[in-house]
Amino acid sequence: MHLPLVDAQARRISYLRLSLTDRCNYRCTYCMPEAGVPLSPKAEVLTLEELARVVKVLRQVGVRAVRLTGGEPTVRHGLVDLVANLAELDLDDLAMTTNGHTLADLAPALHRAGLRRLNVSIDTLDPVRFRAITRWGDLGRVINGVEAAKAVGFRNTKINVVALAGFNDAELPEIASWAWEHDATPRFIEWMPMSDGELFAPGAFLPAAIVRERLVQAFGPLRPDQPSDLPGVGPARYYRTRSGERVGIISAVTEPFCETCNRVRLSATGQLHTCLARDESIDLRTPLRSGASDDQLLQSIRAGVQAKATGHEFQPSGCGGPRQHMVAIGG
Ligand code: 5AD
Ligand code: SF4
Repeated sequence: MHLPLVDAQARRISYLRLSLTDRCNYRCTYCMPEAGVPLSPKAEVLTLEELARVVKVLRQVGVRAVRLTGGEPTVRHGLVDLVANLAELDLDDLAMTTNGHTLADLAPALHRAGLRRLNVSIDTLDPVRFRAITRWGDLGRVINGVEAAKAVGFRNTKINVVALAGFNDAELPEIASWAWEHDATPRFIEWMPMSDGELFAPGAFLPAAIVRERLVQAFGPLRPDQPSDLPGVGPARYYRTRSGERVGIISAVTEPFCETCNRVRLSATGQLHTCLARDESIDLRTPLRSGASDDQLLQSIRAGVQAKATGHEFQPSGCGGPRQHMVAIGG
């Protein structure tokens, strides 16, 4: 067994977000410009074998949880095969974040292949406004996807909701109730100013304190719950309502959780980002494609992790984020 991956702040890295593609079949206004983002040439995107190799190497140094992401991971060909390969690695958690557009079709095969948990993004339950925020989305399909996932055995699905003032602030309790009715956990996420602030509208930023206030008005006092299902995994803070329902809040901007960050991200083109909020990354594609041994890959990874930023500088005004888009780094 190799030494675990630890950074200069003694934070242990146990969680990988693995971006399978920088493409997406939606165009959420807070995530992408309408015209999309410049796509990486196919030749630069890691192959399924390369993706699996990085996970295997990271597994040797204590990465126990992998979340597949994008862009939209379901648009990547070979997704089910990759899941089947990763499922053999005996990870504690193998999950995927998706917009749910094709989930009704894919859920049975993904579950059979060994995927166990899903996060589905739903920012509103109004079909017209859902269309407006996702530009290309179809709420009916996504709801079918959530229901199909439950029917084939996915448990503990999370519903990701980016909290936006003037868009869904009045609807947050309704979304929470909808999630609970579907045996899912709602998670309200503060809007992070990615893309050099280009997509950000400070007036629409909704701080976690207000999200909590809205939930308390609707459901009564919230008491803090276990930070996560698996200790140390995931950025959300969880609460329980009086009637025992669970809700998560991801308050990256106003209540940062960098101190306990256990994550790294691999972009679809093989750039290892040790912090979502920074443009700096470690190029793993070049060593992967020039015959590097596992130990050589690990050396690059360790050097990058040592230099992991202490924290981010996201500001509710829209400053402090990376120049790159969420879809390029890996959401
Ligand atoms: N800030 C916060 N959340 C975002 N997401 C995408 N872009 C942003 C952003 N700028 C969300 C998506 C999805 C998850 C991967 O991140 O809605 O649920
Ligand atoms: Fe696509 Fe997700 Fe970005 Fe929406 S938030 S455009 S679904 S990657």
